[in-house]
Amino acid sequence: MSQPSSSSNPSPGAAPARELFGTKWGFVLAAVGSAVGLGNMWRFSYVAAEGGGAAFVVVYIAMIALLGVPLMLCELTVGRRTHLSPIGALRNLGGRAWVPLGVLFVVTGFLILSYYSVIAGWTLRYAAEAVTVGFAPDPGAHFGAISQGAAAVYWHLAFMVLTIGIVMVGVQKGIERAAMILMPTLFLIVLGLAVWAFTLEGAAEGYAFYLMPDFNELLDPTVLRQAMAQAFFSLSLGMGAMLTFASYLSRDTDLNQEAVTISFADFAVAFAAGLVVFPVIFALGLQDQVSESTVGALFIALPGAFEAMGGPGRVVGLLFFLALAVGAITSAISLLEVVTSSIIDEFKMARKNAAIGMGVLIALAGLFSAFNTDVLGLVDQVAGDLFLVIGALGMSIFVGWFMKEDTAAELARGAGEGFKAVIPTVLFLVRWVLPPVIAFVLWFAMGDALAAIGDFFGS
Ligand code: TRP
Repeated sequence: MSQPSSSSNPSPGAAPARELFGTKWGFVLAAVGSAVGLGNMWRFSYVAAEGGGAAFVVVYIAMIALLGVPLMLCELTVGRRTHLSPIGALRNLGGRAWVPLGVLFVVTGFLILSYYSVIAGWTLRYAAEAVTVGFAPDPGAHFGAISQGAAAVYWHLAFMVLTIGIVMVGVQKGIERAAMILMPTLFLIVLGLAVWAFTLEGAAEGYAFYLMPDFNELLDPTVLRQAMAQAFFSLSLGMGAMLTFASYLSRDTDLNQEAVTISFADFAVAFAAGLVVFPVIFALGLQDQVSESTVGALFIALPGAFEAMGGPGRVVGLLFFLALAVGAITSAISLLEVVTSSIIDEFKMARKNAAIGMGVLIALAGLFSAFNTDVLGLVDQVAGDLFLVIGALGMSIFVGWFMKEDTAAELARGAGEGFKAVIPTVLFLVRWVLPPVIAFVLWFAMGDALAAIGDFFGS
C-alpha cells in the first residue's frame, strides 16, 4: 500500500482544514469505484446487445465523450473549487436558490443506497453460497426464495455494516484505502474471467449476440435515450457523488485528465463484463432467458450456467459474484459519503456519528425494499431514474449559466495545454447541448416514473 503523501490545505485561512485524498490514484480509483458497480456488470452489456451491438458501443463511447465527460467535469469543478459537500458547494457558488438541488442530491443518494444495498446483499449471498453449498439446481426458485423477506434483510444489513465501517473511518484511511485494494482486485477478476470465457465452446455465438453491429437500432430514439441514461447512471452523475469526491482534491489537480481516465475505466469494465456474460450464457444454451428481466438474467440465468458447469462453475461463479460485490461496495461508499459529508458540513457533526447515524437510517429505509421487490423496483424507477436525471439537468444548467465563478478559468486550473484548447468546446456542450438533451431524457423518465407509480398503487 502506498503511503499517502502529505497534502497541504490549499486554501489557507479559509475553511477549516478538510481531509484530502492522499494520492492522485486514490482519488481516481475511488471515483472509478463509484462509477463501476452493478450497472456495469450487467446492465451495460444487456442494453448494448439489445441496442445494436458494436454499433451501439460506438455511439455509447461518443456519448460518454460528448455528454458524460463534460457533465463529470461540471461536478468535479464545483467540488474542487469549494471543498464542500453538495449543499454547501451549491450555496457557496450559486446562493440560497440552489440549495434545493443539493438537498435533492442527498435525498437521491439516500434512496438509491437503500435499495442498492439490498441487491448488493444478494451478490454477497451468492458469493458466500458458491463457497459453502454451490449454486442452486433451480436458480429461479432459489432467487425467488432469497430476494425478499428475512433472507434478504440479513444480507442487506451485512452490506450496510460493511459500507458504514469504511465511510466512518474517513477519506484516506477508509475510502481511499478500500478503493486502492478493491478496484485492482476487481479489474483482475473481470479480466481473468473474460480470458477464461474466451475458451468456452459457444463463446463465438455469445460475442456475436453481444456485438453484431446493427445500425438500424440506432435509428430508434428509445435506444439513444437508453444509451444516454445508461451513460449518466454508469458514471454516477446527477447526485453529487463525483462532486463530493472532488471536494477532497487539492486545487491543482488536472480534472480533465481524471475525468477521461474515470470514464474510460468505467466503460472498459462494462465492456469486459459483457465479454464474460454472453459466452457463459451461450455456452450453456440459456439465451432464451436473456430476454427476461435484467435482474433476473443476472441472478437466475448466470447462476444456472455456473451450476451446470459443475466444480469449475463454482470457482468462476464465486469470482463473478465477488467482482459484483466489490463493485457494489465501492459504489455504496460514494453514495453514503454524499449523505455523510453533507451532514458533517451542514450540522458540524463528527464523521463517525454522521456515518453511523445516516447509515442506520438508510438501512432501515432499505427494509421496505428487502421485504418487497416491487418497492425496490419503484424506488429504483423514481430515484435511480427520475431524480438522477433531474439532478443532472440542474447541474448542467448551474455550471453552464449560474455559477458565480468564471467556469472556463476554473476548468483551466491545473489543465494541460492540450485540454485548455478544448475548454471552449466543453463549455459550449455544457451550456447548449447538455440541458436540452437531458431535458429530452427527463421527459421520458417522468412518464416512466409516473407509470411505475401508477402500476405500484394500482395493483
Ligand atoms: N454507477 C453505479 C453503477 O454503475 C450506480 C450509481 C448511479 C451510483 N449513481 C450513483 C453509484 C451515484 C454511486 C453514486 O452501478
